Amino acid sequence: MKNSNTVSGSSGLSGRVKIPGDKSISHRSVMFGSIAEGVTNVSNFLDSGDCLSTINCFRAMGVKITKAGKKIRIIGAGLCGLRAPKRVLDAGNSGTTTRLMLGILSGQPFTSTITGDASLRSRPMKRVTVPLREMGAKITGRGDGNFAPLTVTGGKLLPIKFRSKVASAQVKSCMLLAGLYAEGETSVSEPRKSRDHTERMLLKFGVKLSVKGNRVSVESGQVLKGATIEVPGDISSAAFILVAASIVPGSKVTLLNVGINPTRTGVLEVLSRMGANIRLSNIRDGKAEPSADITVTYSPLKGVAVRGPVIPRLIDEIPALAAAAAVAKGSTVFSGIGELRVKESDRIKTICSELAKFGVKTKAFPDGMIIYGVAKLKPAAAAESHGDHRIAMMAAVLGQTIRGKTKIKRTACVNTSFPGFFGLLKSLRKK
Ligand code: S3P
Repeated sequence: MKNSNTVSGSSGLSGRVKIPGDKSISHRSVMFGSIAEGVTNVSNFLDSGDCLSTINCFRAMGVKITKAGKKIRIIGAGLCGLRAPKRVLDAGNSGTTTRLMLGILSGQPFTSTITGDASLRSRPMKRVTVPLREMGAKITGRGDGNFAPLTVTGGKLLPIKFRSKVASAQVKSCMLLAGLYAEGETSVSEPRKSRDHTERMLLKFGVKLSVKGNRVSVESGQVLKGATIEVPGDISSAAFILVAASIVPGSKVTLLNVGINPTRTGVLEVLSRMGANIRLSNIRDGKAEPSADITVTYSPLKGVAVRGPVIPRLIDEIPALAAAAAVAKGSTVFSGIGELRVKESDRIKTICSELAKFGVKTKAFPDGMIIYGVAKLKPAAAAESHGDHRIAMMAAVLGQTIRGKTKIKRTACVNTSFPGFFGLLKSLRKK
């Protein structure tokens, strides 16, 4: 597979395009469909490396999943119908696959091992393995169960009232899934509200939950019933195109059918505060997951402060916002983003080191960073993804504003969330 890409400056991006399906929702459709009774049909599934890892993990536990492009059909095995896998489960690069599956595996009466690539094997798992052990699961792995490969021996679980220190949809979802296998009510609370796709989708599968502020509770013994899931476009992928069109003079782009779940739309609010010209149309509100068409027109941006409750609502969009901040007038200050240190790369570090190559000054803190915008970026000799899809896309967006070519190394990882990204960006260039 091609592992580097070259982008060149553009005199404007224009067009109407579809963005690939939402990654969080695609993962959940396979997981919930697998433990449901009956058939689940999914459309606009994200056909990417990460989501294929989830499909393969469930196939390894005997679930029948057929895939025709972006359409998936899952014959549910029921809550207790998964079979012991004969091989190690491979979650690839996907933290969501690993953390949510640990919740499901903890409820199974068999032993399984889950692992992934080098990046995944260095990501902290104690945030889920500690409470899962409290529920009764036996989990072993390096760093006292902090790092994959992790071996889980599950079974009947005890319910728990868990207060998570981090606002994390992966932690919340893991606990709710384990809660389905515990005897009684399991609840999880978080310091700030994280994305709520699990809550919305479980409801669609017929599971009753109680949501009070930042606390969600589930009763065990509920049966999931197969459902029909339409996956909207991924706002985290859309964010890169939104920023590219905002910062390249002469641009006007419409992104069709993008998810606008309020727990994910922080990026739209921050870009608007920076001066971006963003308009929503065709809002489809009546479904489990709302969506809209998003039109963005070039507009000069200014630096802003990004902090507080909006952070979990844009946690994956900070690399895209960093590209916007790099060319904004003044400085942009991100605070309370310590979680970026444990994403696919240490994103505070990788964002700052890549921006430096484009002549942008930054200051990094343990849980924040300042980006000092420049009027004109310097051509980077060679940008680098650090194996992180969103860092590669950040560099590609910056390259749109530079005369001449920008080479980005190690770009194969872009396929984990946004297959076709480079082709789509190219197709938007004005002829
Ligand atoms: C995700 C939750 C977020 C996000 C990740 C996907 C999910 O992670 O960064 O890309 O699908 O639940 P955390 O839960 O670790 O914040």
